[in-house]
Amino acid sequence: MDSFLINGPTTLSGEVDISGSKNAALPIMTACLAKPAVYRLKNVPSLRDTTTMIRLLKIIGAKVSHNNSILTIDTNNCDNPNAPYELVKTMRASFYVLGPLLSRFEYAKVSLPGGCAWGPRPIDYHLKAFEQLGAKITLRSGYIVTKGQLKANVVKFPKPSVGATGNVIMACVNLVEHVTILNAAKEPEIIDLCEFLKKTGVKFKGIGTDSLTIMGSNKEISNIIDYSIIPDRIEAGTFLIACAATGGRIILNNVNPNHLGNVLENLKKTNVMINIKNNQLEIISKNPKKSVSLSTKVYPGFPTDLQAQWTTYMSIINGDCFVEDTIYIDRFTHIPELNRLGAKIIMDENKARISGVKKLFGAHVMSTDIRASASLIIASMCADGESSLSRIYHIDRGYENIELKLTKIGASIKRISS
Ligand code: EPU
Repeated sequence: MDSFLINGPTTLSGEVDISGSKNAALPIMTACLAKPAVYRLKNVPSLRDTTTMIRLLKIIGAKVSHNNSILTIDTNNCDNPNAPYELVKTMRASFYVLGPLLSRFEYAKVSLPGGCAWGPRPIDYHLKAFEQLGAKITLRSGYIVTKGQLKANVVKFPKPSVGATGNVIMACVNLVEHVTILNAAKEPEIIDLCEFLKKTGVKFKGIGTDSLTIMGSNKEISNIIDYSIIPDRIEAGTFLIACAATGGRIILNNVNPNHLGNVLENLKKTNVMINIKNNQLEIISKNPKKSVSLSTKVYPGFPTDLQAQWTTYMSIINGDCFVEDTIYIDRFTHIPELNRLGAKIIMDENKARISGVKKLFGAHVMSTDIRASASLIIASMCADGESSLSRIYHIDRGYENIELKLTKIGASIKRISS
């Protein structure tokens, strides 16, 4: 298993090109299954998760080729609407194939995802919605089997869910009737999915609002569908928080600053300077900083996917504050690792209560998930001395070329392969 050796403290300086969004690319890749056609997706990041998704699409029968950041997916000959446990267990987003397969084959057999390192991540909203749309659902030997032709209905989620919203949208692309989702997710990744599907003839009302109506289309697609994935707002946010924490000045290229509104507001409150120019963001970070408490919320609130990184940043600012996760109340496996580096954080239910320390000190720490790993890299870059970060396959799931990007802006980070 690979690990990172990181020497700190570092000050970051230079430019970073932000990759395409993982969480937009994954559902759009599965959406290609819903209608037989050739799709050319640009700005797809090369990650462990996108590679896993390519493997799954191939099992289902798609022909896939990846050239730089362009992914060509030919779904004309797909004939196997099954997603095996071996793949779904390694990446929960595999569950996204259920909607498009049900839409195309009126049948799908998809493994239940199983547990997650940071607590329960249920799929009850997905299944209840499919039932409300007329699908028959059974659970057999760890697999969800869905059958049936869907029909129009109004689906109301108890609270917004990115995955359930995306799955229901994709289940409806061949249904020439109106389906309305109430309490729909409004994340930029859901908007990107809708924009992609518009190119295949699907119509929408209320994109980016919590009442989203889908009107599918049964027309065949004869042309190649070209689409470019949005920039990764979480990767961009991670680099911004990294620079805020280490100090320095960096410029991010290929970002959509509109997707980062709340993050930029909170960063400014800590005393860093942010300059926005079209699809570029500059951050200048000098001392002294102010600590800022926050709670994660659904978009446009502060994203749960930046909670761990923000917690690291707050751990080295003088003063007391809290960071609360209201989306995933158990997503705090990074806290004991941050404390190993010298942070002073105690958990109070779903709130990390942080007393800022002057310094962190290098230590051995362990990755537990994608974003926890990012937070530990930031902490190690701030810490005095050498840190080693093990189990970095987690970071490879969600950050393209992270050590190359960080080295280019002045970090001392080396991959040790074993
Ligand atoms: N929920 C349910 N039942 C469901 C679905 C969701 O109770 O059937 C609850 C969840 O437990 C959670 C809330 O609803 O409390 C929101 O979960 P959501 O469904 O929105 O999350 P997701 O679709 O499973 C995606 C991202 C996550 C990101 C969340 C929240 C992808 C592939 N994953 O997950 O990204 O944290 O939305 O924004 O898009 C990551 O990239 O590191 C990551 C975990």
